[in-house]
Amino acid sequence: MNQQEVINEIRRKVDIVDIIGERIPLVARGKNYFGVCPFHEDTHPSMSVSREKQIYTCFSCHATGNVFTFLENYEHMEFREVLKMLADKVGVELKGLSYHKKENPYEEWYQIYELANKYYQNNLQSAMGKDARAYLHQRKIDEEVIKEFEIGLSLDKKKDLTDLLVKKKVPISLLNTLGLSTNGVDIYNDRIMFPLYDLTGKCIGFSGRIYENKEENKYINTKETPIFKKGTLLYHYHIAKEESRIKKQVIIMEGFMDVIRASTIGYRNTIALMGTALTKEHIASIKRLSNQVLLCLDGDRAGKKATLTCGEMLEEAGLVVKVISLKDDDDPDTFILKYGKDRFDGLVQNALYFRDYKIQLLKEGVNFRSDEEKTNYIHSVLKETAKMKDPIRIEITLKNLAKTCEIGYNTLEKRFQEIQDEKQTQKITHHSLEIKAPKKKDKYQKAEDAILSAMVDANWTIDEVEKEHIVFQDLESRMLQSEIMYYYRKYKEVTFADLYTYLEEKPNLLLRLSKLGSNTSFQKITKQELYDYFRVMREYNKSQEIKRLERKMSTEQDPKVQAQIGLEIVKLRRGEKEW
Ligand code: CTP
Ligand code: MN
Repeated sequence: MNQQEVINEIRRKVDIVDIIGERIPLVARGKNYFGVCPFHEDTHPSMSVSREKQIYTCFSCHATGNVFTFLENYEHMEFREVLKMLADKVGVELKGLSYHKKENPYEEWYQIYELANKYYQNNLQSAMGKDARAYLHQRKIDEEVIKEFEIGLSLDKKKDLTDLLVKKKVPISLLNTLGLSTNGVDIYNDRIMFPLYDLTGKCIGFSGRIYENKEENKYINTKETPIFKKGTLLYHYHIAKEESRIKKQVIIMEGFMDVIRASTIGYRNTIALMGTALTKEHIASIKRLSNQVLLCLDGDRAGKKATLTCGEMLEEAGLVVKVISLKDDDDPDTFILKYGKDRFDGLVQNALYFRDYKIQLLKEGVNFRSDEEKTNYIHSVLKETAKMKDPIRIEITLKNLAKTCEIGYNTLEKRFQEIQDEKQTQKITHHSLEIKAPKKKDKYQKAEDAILSAMVDANWTIDEVEKEHIVFQDLESRMLQSEIMYYYRKYKEVTFADLYTYLEEKPNLLLRLSKLGSNTSFQKITKQELYDYFRVMREYNKSQEIKRLERKMSTEQDPKVQAQIGLEIVKLRRGEKEW
């Protein structure tokens, strides 16, 4: 068996519905299964999984693929790892198969960062690292933690790292790109170096901290590159992944020092935002860890503000959000240092639900003797309560509110219902605006899509396409057509699921394919329908040819040739000449 055959065999032996169903809840509806898409923030079941086609498709974010791509993306695994995992599961032997997924184009980059990482760590352990080590020890970061988090030191020598890497044949220009040097000089001088990792745990940059009272930026981070984007990075994600699943909760902090400190008292289900705003990409990654999030940001004003915005975003994404609110000048790091593990455990156990936290904040500073302030307060609390889902929590909140404000429960209940109803109508009108009739697709384009789709969905049509010499106008369609035919001839069968892996290195074709695969408007095709589409294609091709000839005729000088072209056009129009 060759490589492709082994891959096919493994894919055929597993059922995508089982594999995805083990990870996200799926509900059967008609022929397909539906679940909440894990690749974007959502609460609605917008991902469909087809047992028949062995593919998944999200109608919202357009994520699509086969069982391999699902696992690669969901588990952050390499193709090889996924293949190995599934091969073990279904008992297929991979030995002797030298499967190489396309080389990761950034493989060299990872290696260089890893070299730098090792170098920095050695520096810290050398005699030159004495002061930096003293600083870390004084901050209660002991040798074990230094090792675990691979903390290092850049030296005050201006170009030692650059020299070292150039000696290893790394081009200067690449070092610039990687954010390690600029014009042959090191970026990091005399800073404590914290490696930053991508979601799979590979070093993709650094954050360098000053450690003696210097008047410089506290932290310098490696600049963004294609493999390091602040908007997607979550510090410590690769470790928190396992831990959050066990603890059924992931804790979000602001800085990596907080995460490092928390890990010393046994919290490894923590990640840090690294001082940036929470993005959709972050949320999608967080959702893969747990559906319960505990926000534990800094106690200062900025931290409180971020708690509110992050809390809203995370709740909107369908996560259960709880909040720990620290005192003004504390962050998790200083809190744990000052008060110890037990007190922090207490905070985690008594964390407030986000809505309760918000309601508590609303109460601050309200003068309950002023009727106006009291009314405003009641209305804002009702608005927050309307965002709760659990009826029990809603009732408790309303009862508490009635008590604090000395208002009858029924009055509050009634007003609350009104707010709920208003929300409902808003939702409906908003929704009806969204589902406008889809733009009518060009007839020819539709025929092209339908034929290509049929070729993959009902392989008998491939022979018909060939027999009838169907030619696609669009280059990409033509390329896809020939790939489908090639695959079919070679392996005697072709499916969407096969092609998702086979075409992986041709992203434009893959995109075209995934659009076809996710289009549910194509039903199983009949021969009659197929030939109707052929006719549409021919007519279109003919009209294109006529247009071409007309252009040619208008620029032609020789009247004889002109007449010849004219005749051809007439023949085409009369249908005497086939297209
Ligand atoms: N940060 C940054 N550049 C800065 C300050 C902060 O990139 N000049 C990022 C860092 O990733 C840091 C996070 O924002 O981890 C939180 O910042 P801050 O709360 O100031 O850092 P601490 O975790 O408190 O660090 P330390 O205790 O060492 O001061
Ligand atoms: Mn701090």
